[in-house]
Amino acid sequence: MAQLVEEAAGLTRDLLAGEPERLRHSEGVARRAEFLTPTVDRDQAPLLVAAAWLHDIGYAPRLRDSGFHPLDGARYLRSAGWPRVICDLVAQHAGSRFVAAALGLSEELGDFGYQENRLTDALTVADQTCGPYGRPMTVEERFEDMLARHGPHSPLARAHHLRGPYIRGAARRVTTRLEASGIDAADHGIF
Ligand SMILES: [Fe+2]
Repeated sequence: MAQLVEEAAGLTRDLLAGEPERLRHSEGVARRAEFLTPTVDRDQAPLLVAAAWLHDIGYAPRLRDSGFHPLDGARYLRSAGWPRVICDLVAQHAGSRFVAAALGLSEELGDFGYQENRLTDALTVADQTCGPYGRPMTVEERFEDMLARHGPHSPLARAHHLRGPYIRGAARRVTTRLEASGIDAADHGIF
């Protein structure tokens, strides 16, 4: 399973080599995911960290197809034979289903299953506490940064009234799980 993480890291470094902001972000999200592994079942930790590495590969110019990065990344991973759970996590990370609805891509994204579970929550929180170039951010700082970068009429902004509460809910669940593992709220920088 450690090999899965190595392969995910290698593929991401290769695909995002020309996109330093995204690559540094992906490295940061993978580190955050490692920090969050106490919130998932032990045997699922490598799936979480591998998905964290891979979650934004759909931004790679050579994978661009629909233009919606969670979908393009997941489709590529599926065609390359990656485990179904990784493809689904990448497709559905950080409330992408709400953005897909704003883009008219719900049916296409529906090829990949959404499940509310510990893995999905942890990946979403890892992504949403890591900004461009991997800068650590609270969930609220990340929202502010995202809305400023993408603009008030972007699909992300139009989906925010649904996506924001979903991400805050995932963040609360992850916080509770971290505290159950003895990690204090002051140490995890989620809120
Ligand atoms: Fe991301």
